[in-house]
Amino acid sequence: MNRMPLTDAQTTVAVVGAGAMGSGIAQVAAAAGHEVHLVDAAEGAAAAAREKLATTLTRLVEKGKLTAEERDGILQRIVIGPAADGDLRELPPVGLVIEAVVENLGVKHDIFDTLADHQDESTVLATNTSSLDVNAIAANLRAPERVIGLHFFNPPPLMKLVEVVRTTQSSGDVLTEAMELMSRWGKTPVMCTSTPGFIVNRVARPFYGEAQRMVQDGVADPATLDLALREHGGFRMGPFELTDLIGQDVNLAVGTSVWLQTDRDPRYEPVDAQRRLVEAGRLGRKTGHGWFEYADGGQAVDATPDEGRVRELVGGPVETDPVARTIARLVNEGVDLVRRGEASAEDVDTAMMLGTNYPKGPHQWLAEIGAATVVEQLRALDTAFPGGRYRVSPALEDQL
Ligand SMILES: NC(=O)c1ccc[n+]([C@@H]2O[C@H](COP(=O)([O-])OP(=O)(O)OC[C@H]3O[C@@H](n4cnc5c(N)ncnc54)[C@H](O)[C@@H]3O)[C@@H](O)[C@H]2O)c1
Repeated sequence: MNRMPLTDAQTTVAVVGAGAMGSGIAQVAAAAGHEVHLVDAAEGAAAAAREKLATTLTRLVEKGKLTAEERDGILQRIVIGPAADGDLRELPPVGLVIEAVVENLGVKHDIFDTLADHQDESTVLATNTSSLDVNAIAANLRAPERVIGLHFFNPPPLMKLVEVVRTTQSSGDVLTEAMELMSRWGKTPVMCTSTPGFIVNRVARPFYGEAQRMVQDGVADPATLDLALREHGGFRMGPFELTDLIGQDVNLAVGTSVWLQTDRDPRYEPVDAQRRLVEAGRLGRKTGHGWFEYADGGQAVDATPDEGRVRELVGGPVETDPVARTIARLVNEGVDLVRRGEASAEDVDTAMMLGTNYPKGPHQWLAEIGAATVVEQLRALDTAFPGGRYRVSPALEDQL
C-alpha cells in the first residue's frame, strides 16, 4: 500500500454524484477534516450542491448547532475543481472515492472503470449503491481488491449507520480501514457481504410485507395494524405510515429488487395490494394519497385505528397477530443472514436498530421469545399460507 491510511485527515476524498446522498456524504467527509472533490455529470450541479450546503450550514450556525468557523472550514474543504462537471480523468489523485450517482449498473461500472484506470491502484473505490451487486461493479477492473460498498443512509449527516460491503475480492486491510474511517466520521459501521439488500433492506422486508398481506386478506385496516405495531411491537412508525413517507414506489422498487436478485424467493415476493397502489399513482405523502389520504398540511385524514380490533388480534393466533407474525419473520430473516455468513449477529442487530429505528434487533427478540416459540409460529404460518414464505431457517431449527 503506497498511500496514507484512509483514517488520516490528510487523505483526500472525491464524491461522485452531488445529489441527495453525495452532497450529504461530502459534508460528512469535509466535517471530518478531509479535502473533498465534488463531482457531478450535470453541468453546474456540484457547484450548486455546495451552494445549497452553504445555506444549510448557515442555518445551523444561526441555530447555534455549528460555529461560523466550522461552517467555513467545511465549505473551504469542498473543492469544485476541474473534474467537477463529471470528467473523472481530470480528478487529481485522491485516497478514497465514494460514488453516489444514479442507481444504474452500466453508469456505475463506467465510472469505476475510468477511476480504476486514472487513479493509483491503492485508491479505495467505494459505491453507495443500495441495491446493485458490488461484485458486479468491481468486475473486470484493475485492482478490484480496493473496491467496497459504503452504504450510507438518508440523510447521511444525521443517520449513524453505514453498511460497509465486502465483495468476494475486497482486501481485508481496505475493509478494516474503511470501518475505522466510518467510526472516525462519527458513524456506526457494520460489515456485510454484497447480499441483495445488504442487511437493512433485506431483513426489513417482512415488516412491510406481512402487514400488507394482512390488509389484503381483510384482517384489519392499515391504521389499525400501524397502531398494533407501534403500541405492542415498540416500532416508532407502523409499516403503512412509514411506506407512505418513504414513497410506495421507492419501497416497492427495493422489495422487487431483493425478490428478483434472490431468484424470486417467496419470502420477498411483492404484495399485489402495494403494486396496485403504485399503479394507481398512490405513492404516499408526496402525491397526497397512499395507504392514507393526506390533507394539505400533510396530516393523514382517514387514519383512525380500531382499538378494539387491535386488542382482539394481538396475543391471538399468530396468523392474525400482526406483532407476533412480523417479529417471527424478522427473527427468521436475521438469523438466516448470519447463517449464510453475510454478517455477524451483532451487526445485524445494530443495523436494524440504527437503519430502521427498530426497538430491538432480531437476535434480541429471539433471545426474549425463544427459538421454540418462533419456530412454532413460523410453522403455523407455513401451514396457513404454504409456498415457502414462512420456511424456517435451519439456524432456528438448530436451536431446538
Ligand atoms: N436516496 C436514498 O435514500 C439513498 C440511500 C442510500 C443509498 N442511495 C444510493 O445513492 C445513490 C445516489 O442516490 P441519490 O438519492 O443521491 O440520487 P440523486 O438522483 O439525488 O443524485 C444522483 C446524482 O448523480 C448525478 N449523476 C448521474 N450520472 C452521473 C455520472 N455519470 N457522473 C457523475 N454524476 C452523475 C446526477 O446528476 C445526480 O446529481 C444511488 O446509488 C442510490 O441507490 C440512495
